[in-house]
Amino acid sequence: MDILKQNKKSWDIVAHHFNGKDALPSYGPYAQTEDELRLFEDIQGKNVLDIGCGSGHSLRYMGMKGAKELWGIDISDRQIKTASEILRGRECYLYCSPMEMENGLPKDYFDYVYSIYGIGWTTDLAATFHLVNSYLKPGGIFIFSWDHPLYSHMKSQNGTILLEGSYQEEGVITYPKFKGEDAPVAIPKRKMSTYINELIKAEFLIDTVIESEVSINDRTTHEEMSDRYYSLSKAKRFPTTMIIKARKK
Ligand SMILES: C[S@@+](CC[C@H](N)C(=O)[O-])C[C@H]1O[C@@H](n2cnc3c(N)ncnc32)[C@H](O)[C@@H]1O
Repeated sequence: MDILKQNKKSWDIVAHHFNGKDALPSYGPYAQTEDELRLFEDIQGKNVLDIGCGSGHSLRYMGMKGAKELWGIDISDRQIKTASEILRGRECYLYCSPMEMENGLPKDYFDYVYSIYGIGWTTDLAATFHLVNSYLKPGGIFIFSWDHPLYSHMKSQNGTILLEGSYQEEGVITYPKFKGEDAPVAIPKRKMSTYINELIKAEFLIDTVIESEVSINDRTTHEEMSDRYYSLSKAKRFPTTMIIKARKK
């Protein structure tokens, strides 16, 4: 099956596991939050678009911060339905569509386009970044977070962190199960430089690149060494998340 069709089907199955997870003010597991980083400047009265908006919690946060128009796209009907419930009573525009395709979103319209743990799902990074650029007003800002590209290679084993597989190899990795469900997904694996170079090719000016540190909310927490994929002990030694802020020329 085509990757987008497969991922869409699987996201409809696992959507309930992600209700409010990976949403602003969080940028990612154990990572500094928007309250700490303050990457968004003034949200008051601004038009915002969330790419891979999921359950709509980040958009709700934007609404609470005074954004004027709330727009979101997501490939999953299930997620869009949840987002419309979470955002009930607010004026919002939600599209069920893959981020890598033209979908009727207005051009030169948004002050902010952002994506919290959504962008890495794209099967075509170059097309997605070009589309994001086209949605922004000149000078508009694009912010996204995703797993730090080295993170999936850092395996914790009995307290030692080991490098597994090859960071050098890019490609698509398929997982037969997602969140323990029979929901196969295919996730592209890219290097940090690929994200940065594709932003440059899409004519963005890069403002900030962040390799996350542990959030102040977690810094005093003590946790035993753990071999979980996301663990505080691992996050204290290696960034879980990359966060990039770029600007349309
Ligand atoms: C981890 S969730 C993001 C959660 C979201 N940031 C929030 O505030 O709730 C990733 C989202 O990306 C969506 N997604 C995956 N592939 C996509 C694609 N090609 N185009 C658009 N959305 C996609 C999934 O349906 C899922 O809702």
